Amino acid sequence: AEVVIVADADAAGAVVADAIVSLIRSKPDAVLGLATGSTPLASYRALARRITDDGIDVRGVRGFALDEYVGLPAGHPESYRAVITREVVEPLGLTPELVRVPHGDPATIRTAGDDYERAITAAGGVDLQILGIGRSGHIGFNEPGSSLASLTRVKTLTESTRLDNARFFDSPDDVPMHCITQGIGTILRARHLVLLAFGKAKAHAVAAAVEGPVSASQPGSAIQLHPHATVIVDEAAASGLA
Ligand code: F6R
Repeated sequence: AEVVIVADADAAGAVVADAIVSLIRSKPDAVLGLATGSTPLASYRALARRITDDGIDVRGVRGFALDEYVGLPAGHPESYRAVITREVVEPLGLTPELVRVPHGDPATIRTAGDDYERAITAAGGVDLQILGIGRSGHIGFNEPGSSLASLTRVKTLTESTRLDNARFFDSPDDVPMHCITQGIGTILRARHLVLLAFGKAKAHAVAAAVEGPVSASQPGSAIQLHPHATVIVDEAAASGLA
């Protein structure tokens, strides 16, 4: 992977906004792969400003979120559907119907993974996939041990990821036990991966992803199998690199 070290998340945002704006200029119906979590928020803000300032027409831009919790009530403010609407679709001015999030409704969960894969394929695949990385090394919600060939499916969240995400909920017990996530194989099909990480807590996962052996025990290391992966990190997140 190409590693870009930047001062902070805002500086990363400028790089991400450049890449996405030039993609949309050359392909007005570009397909973006969207991560949730804290890491990409500054990039989404930078992108929203660029779209407004440069008057970019984004009405044809399509999007696929990485993952969703299973079993949250529809409209729950911390469902990734709600987060993507609030942090991405609305500020960027995307067309809501063109941005998909896996369905975490237990009633349809048996077919939701296959449906999502079909929708990504029908869209012609993801052009640029934004990724964060968990302290455990997870990408999407593919925790250590996930097959490097996996496709969108239901997974059990690890205790440590539930604790990491408890900050978004009233109590740690409110964090769902299960999620539906694009697989590592799904992620690897995107044409360009842009992995973002900031802060010391991510240094180990970043080092394992960029320089460690490719292994299911560090899902982030799968980016080494990809011909076009860009890793954008601050000094603290880069501190484990050789
Ligand atoms: C989010 C996702 C996760 C996060 C990771 C880091 O859609 O799939 O892999 O990117 O948990 O989360 P933050 O950015 O909150 O540190």
